[in-house]
Amino acid sequence: MNRRNFFQSLGAVAASGIALPTWATQTGLQQTGGIGKAKPLFRANPRLTCLRGYQGQDVSCDSAWIEGKIPSDLRGDFYRNGPGLFERGNQRYHHWFDGDGMVHAWRFGEQGVSHQARFVRTKKFLAEQQAGEFLVPAFGTPIEAKIPMRSSDTMNTANTNVIQLDGRLLALWEGGSAHAMDASSLQTHGIVSWAPELAGMPFSAHPKVEADGTMWNFGTMMDRLVMYQISAQGKLIKHHVMKCPRTAMAHDFAISQKHLIFLLSPIALNMDLLRAGRSMVDSMEWKAEESTKVLIVEKADFTKSRILEIPALMLFHFGNAWEENNIIHLDFVKSNDLTNFNTWMPKIMRGEDVASEPSNPAFLRIDLNTNKIRLTERLENAEFPRVDPRVVGQRNQFLYYPHAVNKRDNNAFNGVMRLHVDSGKKDVFDFGERYRLEEHVVVPKRGSRNEGEAWLVGVGFDVDRQTSFASVFDAQNLSAGPVALAHLPYWLPHCFHGNFYSRA
Ligand SMILES: [Fe+2]
Repeated sequence: MNRRNFFQSLGAVAASGIALPTWATQTGLQQTGGIGKAKPLFRANPRLTCLRGYQGQDVSCDSAWIEGKIPSDLRGDFYRNGPGLFERGNQRYHHWFDGDGMVHAWRFGEQGVSHQARFVRTKKFLAEQQAGEFLVPAFGTPIEAKIPMRSSDTMNTANTNVIQLDGRLLALWEGGSAHAMDASSLQTHGIVSWAPELAGMPFSAHPKVEADGTMWNFGTMMDRLVMYQISAQGKLIKHHVMKCPRTAMAHDFAISQKHLIFLLSPIALNMDLLRAGRSMVDSMEWKAEESTKVLIVEKADFTKSRILEIPALMLFHFGNAWEENNIIHLDFVKSNDLTNFNTWMPKIMRGEDVASEPSNPAFLRIDLNTNKIRLTERLENAEFPRVDPRVVGQRNQFLYYPHAVNKRDNNAFNGVMRLHVDSGKKDVFDFGERYRLEEHVVVPKRGSRNEGEAWLVGVGFDVDRQTSFASVFDAQNLSAGPVALAHLPYWLPHCFHGNFYSRA
């Protein structure tokens, strides 16, 4: 797809009615704060403070209070990103995914642990900060466009992930371009274009980086899928745009040694609802009777692919994939449908600490000889799976998750879990109900060679103290509890994803 076609497809969305009147009356929210009318909707709830959001201010702490002992070989920068601003004037976003990106740097050094966070200065953020109101539609909130919608980057919040590539940071958002930032100051440099013909093309928030630094990524726009291969030096090696088997709404993907793998859930976009003023989220329809498409693309030649089918299922995140004897093994976190996405998330954004639907580790065995697929599932409630960075796209033994321990829903991860894939053996630490845990990432121990010889580093929120902390576990013994917690004197908005970059 060329740029012109891409913008035409976007135009269909952007022009499809981002006004709000129908939405406000149909949801009943207008009584307590519909768009553009009453005061923002957030019932103060100490368990959900991290969803209140900031007001656009940057924060920093030179020296976190350390409980325990930070390992002497854990030195580097732990970057995270997530939606940090949800309200302007008398408006509040309805969906967690809508907030403006706030990039965090936890720096682990000889002197201790520091923290700084800055909002990504997207064009959207700067214009709205100056105006004191929201100016563009959001993914889950039908806001009237008050500036020209030139491309998806007009709505780009840069709020989903942050990676370091060849010395610079990239703040990522699945619907548009990456934003480059200074890795030290967190100042925003601007939008990244991988090649002139790719300007403005979506670059998803879940690139996969192999042990040698090769990065693979994709972007979706309606029924088109763009795929990228990028060198460790940040140079585009190849790309390809293909037509998708259905309107592509892929958040994440997996790579094996030879393939890129996508699971495309049966989600349809109801254009009538969009034109009537609903948001994208509220215009999505779950087609339970349809299949989930399994799209498998060859790494060596993006034009070679096959499409298989499995029953309808919903997912956001993959852990890893690998293949052996022409059989692909992959894992992801499965839920049944869109309920958490379009019903539960708007509730917690209003301050309602209500139960979510479960989301469970799931596994696919895809036989490329016979095109037969076997699905197996586990019962633990978990999300945000990660693996040791040394085994991305290779056979892995372990998966690591924030985990809702002993709970039937996953609306608060009160622990962390390591799962041994083959045996099913678990290593779990339960923080208790007082804490909410985010994604934890795997940081190889200095000088180690084997998968899992690592520190597990993440972020959490202490409900009683109303403050946030970074947590460090020995990844080989989670049940022993964290070896260190680095406490901040303030709370942080919940993040989605991040990565730790060790210093030599
Ligand atoms: Fe994600």
